[in-house]
Amino acid sequence: MMNTVLLDKAKHNRNRFNCGSEALNNYLKVMASQQAKKDNTRTFVLQDENDNTHIIGFYTLTMIPIDLKALPDKLQKKHQPSSSGGLIARLAVDERYKGKGFGEWLLIDALRKLLAASDSVAFPVVIVDAKDGATQFYERYGFTPFQDADNKLFITISDIRASLG
Ligand SMILES: CC(C)(COP(=O)(O)OP(=O)(O)OC[C@H]1O[C@@H](n2cnc3c(N)ncnc32)[C@H](O)[C@@H]1OP(=O)(O)O)[C@@H](O)C(=O)NCCC(=O)NCCS
Repeated sequence: MMNTVLLDKAKHNRNRFNCGSEALNNYLKVMASQQAKKDNTRTFVLQDENDNTHIIGFYTLTMIPIDLKALPDKLQKKHQPSSSGGLIARLAVDERYKGKGFGEWLLIDALRKLLAASDSVAFPVVIVDAKDGATQFYERYGFTPFQDADNKLFITISDIRASLG
């Protein structure tokens, strides 16, 4: 059974990882482990079952302030007292493993973790920073682009619960 584990720099081969985006590769190599140590972000990886030092893909989670004004009117009103949303800050699949459903699997895994987190520390939306033209990938799974911000999309916890809960 596939499952994600926290990035472990002593075990996972971060230098081998290549998703085609230098910015994302570098985040995994240089930032992800440091930022987790400081409790700023968490990075989860999917390991290759044949060699668990090989990273198939990863995602990084944290929180972000919600710009209420950028939400549709109905949601602005509903979530007026809220100030934070969950954030999928990074999500990428290594080129050797692309097009096999791992991106979808990682996204659902990330949304399950955020849904579970929201059961104890409530927040009303999940936001994703879709780098490098991945906007359409997230729209397939029900994310809505923010009007004002390039590459930022959101989905409500209520919608996540309805499809995964
Ligand atoms: C976006 C990303 C996470 C997708 O990972 P993946 O493992 O190849 O995706 P999956 O195989 O799970 O694809 C799931 C579905 O999304 C579609 N899809 C994949 N990438 C997509 C994209 N960029 N835009 C729109 N749809 C996309 C697939 O065709 C598939 O649809 P299907 O089930 O109808 O065939 C991956 O391409 C990635 O890491 N992107 C960011 C880094 C990067 O390489 N950026 C530069 C080029 S985009």
